[in-house]
Amino acid sequence: MKTLIMGLETSCDETAVAVVEDGCRILSNLVSSQTDLHSRYGGVVPEIASRKHLEMINPLIDEALKEAGLHYQQLSAFAVSHGPGLVGALLVGVSTAKALSYAWEIPLIPVNHLRGHLYANYLTGATVKHPYVGLIASGGHTDLLYSSEEGEITLLGETRDDAAGEAFDKIARSLGLGYPGGPAIDSLAREGDPAAVELPRASLGEEGRFDFSFSGLKTAVLNYKNRVEQKGEEVNLENLAASFQQAVVDMLVDKTIDAVLHKKPASLLLSGGVAANSLLRQQMEERLSRKAPGVFLLCPPVHLCTDNAAMLAAAAHFQYREGAKAPLDLNAIPDLAVSRTS
Ligand code: KG4
Ligand code: ZN
Repeated sequence: MKTLIMGLETSCDETAVAVVEDGCRILSNLVSSQTDLHSRYGGVVPEIASRKHLEMINPLIDEALKEAGLHYQQLSAFAVSHGPGLVGALLVGVSTAKALSYAWEIPLIPVNHLRGHLYANYLTGATVKHPYVGLIASGGHTDLLYSSEEGEITLLGETRDDAAGEAFDKIARSLGLGYPGGPAIDSLAREGDPAAVELPRASLGEEGRFDFSFSGLKTAVLNYKNRVEQKGEEVNLENLAASFQQAVVDMLVDKTIDAVLHKKPASLLLSGGVAANSLLRQQMEERLSRKAPGVFLLCPPVHLCTDNAAMLAAAAHFQYREGAKAPLDLNAIPDLAVSRTS
């Protein structure tokens, strides 16, 4: 029998609801972004995020059912992000999912938001072959992972300071490019020279072989900008954006390809908002086909790299088949680790 899972996502500044059939076919996928609300503050304001989620979640649930052409009684389960994320924001999704699960008598499946990002790759139509190496590069996390079989995910390395998306956002803010910074830098960088400004790439030695660090790069960009301005000169924003982006992409590509060469997987999965970056997608593909031509690269389309609920419903499909079900005392876990399902 087919499974019809409704996903609810409220971990940060996107309220999202989706219905996915059998973990791979999207029937509806609605995302209400709050970026306009937060952009004037230069980042996400948690209290505003929670209030907006509350306002949006019920209409989106109705709309997602309507678009999918379903009655709620046809749903097999609810999938909800219960962590990691902003606690007040997560609680809106978790409380809504619990209430509807109880009222509609539909099982509830908690999904780790980070794992959800990887499952966006299951919505691409391609078959995900294990074992795989996965990169999650988002606004809050930068993780390199290894999955030997379905549901088994171990952490190979992670960022020691800022996440890749956070570095994009902070640099964009300091250059006056607005929030979120990733897309702004991505498009500005197309007009610039990536070799114009010399910037550091952190390698972290053998012990930190699969770990990342972006804070040194961030400081170097800010110092460069200050030095130029102190001389009374104008910063070439295109060149600085292109050089910064190239440094982030080099670090992400180097470490990910090193993990691929080390683990010899069947596939490489990219995910998270930073996987929407055009240079990262292009350079990862080039380097993988040169260094490990037999490894299959999967990368979700741009709209499934950033936060959405379809990815959660896809992840929940596999948990549902294993009989996973959350009790009604399910709580939000703001610091949930990627290695844990709940
Ligand atoms: O995965 P996501 O939507 O939310 C989190 O779970 O954090 O990621 C959001 C992050 C933001 O930091 C945003 O600037 C970054 O992804 N991002 C990008 C691009 N599009 C979004 N970073 C680089 N290039 C992009 N094109
Ligand atoms: Zn996310």
